[in-house]
Amino acid sequence: MKRHVDVVVIGGGVIGQSIAYYLSKSRVVTTVIEQGRSGRKATQAAAGMLGVHTENDQEGTYYQFCQASRNMYASLSKELFSLSGIDIQLSTNGILEIATNEEQKQRLRAKQNAFEGLEWLDAEGIRKRTSALSQAVGGLYMRRDGHVEPLKVCEAFKQASLSMGGQLIENCQVGEIVHDHDVFHIQIDNDVISADHVVVAAGVKSGRWFEATGLMNPMVPTKGECFAIKPSIQSIQQTLFFHNLYLVPKRDGRYIIGATSYHDDSNSYTSTGGIFELMNHLLKLFPSFKQEELHSCWTGVRPGTKDGKPIIGEHPEIPHLYFATGHYRNGILLAPATGKLVSDMVLKRYVPSSIQRLFTPNRFRKEGITYADTRERTSGGGS
Ligand code: GLY
Repeated sequence: MKRHVDVVVIGGGVIGQSIAYYLSKSRVVTTVIEQGRSGRKATQAAAGMLGVHTENDQEGTYYQFCQASRNMYASLSKELFSLSGIDIQLSTNGILEIATNEEQKQRLRAKQNAFEGLEWLDAEGIRKRTSALSQAVGGLYMRRDGHVEPLKVCEAFKQASLSMGGQLIENCQVGEIVHDHDVFHIQIDNDVISADHVVVAAGVKSGRWFEATGLMNPMVPTKGECFAIKPSIQSIQQTLFFHNLYLVPKRDGRYIIGATSYHDDSNSYTSTGGIFELMNHLLKLFPSFKQEELHSCWTGVRPGTKDGKPIIGEHPEIPHLYFATGHYRNGILLAPATGKLVSDMVLKRYVPSSIQRLFTPNRFRKEGITYADTRERTSGGGS
């Protein structure tokens, strides 16, 4: 293990591994420290939708960032395959957002007007594509959106960055971090590793590092449950998105159905009531699925934030300490652009001011209190 590296990334989910990948590509020596196994928390629980238009209602910087990140996947899937041998199973056949009543139809019509290139399908057009979905009154076809296999994306970033000299330390708790003469000393289990830069990409667990460095804890853990069925015939080829429900047809024959949403809840068990709610909703839309094989159920905790936007940027008072967290429902979608953005920040490359402003950690400064007022070192305590 290298004892001094350029960058330590805390958190080995898809965001942390993407950051390590883009830094490694630029020959920045990077170590990822993960408290469990890489990608086995929120990343693994995600359905992997690249839902630029299901997750946005209006144009703007955030929408453009989402779009840029989704667009990166086309070349990235080839690049990652050649470096890691892992196929991230990119699907580019679109997402269909469906209205089942007049109110939803009006909302989707407004969305169509807000963006370029979304195609309106009437009820008949929807039925043709989705095995007789009788309640549909219309829908929006988002041709350029799609999905990937989240754990494979994370694994591919990981393997690719390891192949370029990156390090990964798994099953390891980060203790105290001491910042001394521009070097961070990071306590890990019974050891210390030092780095010129630290990036906190620990999802819902990032809160302790905000608090330890004089900022407000911005994290809002938001539990979500999903289940998968394995239908005998795959009659749905496209991701379907409804009000409060989605169905993602995976290449291995599973349909992933999600998701519940409980704010300020970080429980990781899967509740009977949550799965019942999803199943009930699904079977009202597709009664014939009642006979299909139930494959699995699971839970993830989304790293939400108090203002609903990710936090990506340098600490307002501690140079070379960065945050890259709070991607809420969109960690998989935003992983490529976030990894690239953090590597640009660390390397002091040009970053548009609109992006810096949108994601700045400064949003969570405590009024009238500076980090220097409180203490001279960062200490996160145990997690
Ligand atoms: N990305 C969808 C969800 O978090 O449920």
